[in-house]
Amino acid sequence: MSKIENIKLSLDQFVVDTNEKLESFRLQFLSKKSELQELLSEIKNVAPEQRKDFGQQVNQLKQYAQQLFDDYKLKLESQITYNQSDIDVTRPANGIQVGSMHPVTIVLNQVCEIFEKLGFVPVSGPDIEDDWHVFSALNFAPEHPARDMQDTFFVDVNPEMLLRTHTSSIQVRVMENSQPPIRVICPGRVFRNETITARSHCIFHQVEGLYIAEHVTFADLKQVLLFFAKEMFGEETKIRLRPSYFPFTEPSAEMDIECKICGGKGCNVCKYSGWVEIMGCGMVDPNVLDNCGIDSKKYSGYAFGIGIERMTMLKYKTNDIRLYFENDVRFLQQFSAATE
Ligand code: PHE
Repeated sequence: MSKIENIKLSLDQFVVDTNEKLESFRLQFLSKKSELQELLSEIKNVAPEQRKDFGQQVNQLKQYAQQLFDDYKLKLESQITYNQSDIDVTRPANGIQVGSMHPVTIVLNQVCEIFEKLGFVPVSGPDIEDDWHVFSALNFAPEHPARDMQDTFFVDVNPEMLLRTHTSSIQVRVMENSQPPIRVICPGRVFRNETITARSHCIFHQVEGLYIAEHVTFADLKQVLLFFAKEMFGEETKIRLRPSYFPFTEPSAEMDIECKICGGKGCNVCKYSGWVEIMGCGMVDPNVLDNCGIDSKKYSGYAFGIGIERMTMLKYKTNDIRLYFENDVRFLQQFSAATE
């Protein structure tokens, strides 16, 4: 009986924290040569009146040793799996990265939606154009500086072809292929050989508009542009029209809105004037209508061209246009469609 107690004591004191110790535990308590095994084979030699009691206790001790062994083994095995695969199933999962709309796309879509409410239909056209659709049809004189290499990217293999410098080329295509009433907007990418600065880039986006019907006046144009500015920037928005010049419109104007970045106080985006130019506009020159097969004695029309990056900068109070083209996700992530 005292042997049983001794074995129980050493069982309880035995610390198993490695595979080697588990093996020693097995040898000491569960193998054929273990003390416990010896006790088991001694049962038959015990005096009959004590045999039952003795036998029970030895068997209980054996079960106890086996149970301890199984538990230690399980514990060691689970630790091994954990270390080997280095997977911690309790760690929080990585979040799923969801893409978001580019700020320029968001604003371009908003601009189109406002004009679509007024019945303008969006039309697209090619980025690579010929001289006729970008310049000649639009009344640019042959020596006009906009045709110069300074402004236009020409295609090396075919100097007749160039990257469009404005989406007015789409308007020419529409006029050539349809008769008034015409009411279209032309969104798209345009290219100009300009120095890249905080305010200007060699690639940007425009939404140009064209309306041709009978008796169209400058007053119609002004009302449409005022409606647009209020829809885009809020009811309180102030606009300003300044006389200007474009070969394809007469009279021509440029439209400014109050600078939303500095609130009119003056900053690098508004060149410290408090106003930002967001579009050119005017009444379509009769020469352009005639060039495109529309009777200029019967019809008149207006056109406008909006720079989308400039407007996006105002809308999101960004003071550097280059951010839109750097594809830095830390910048772009801020403009999910959900913020709209
Ligand atoms: N096409 C002109 C530009 O790109 C903008 C414009 C469009 C001006 C229509 C007047 C009328 O600068």
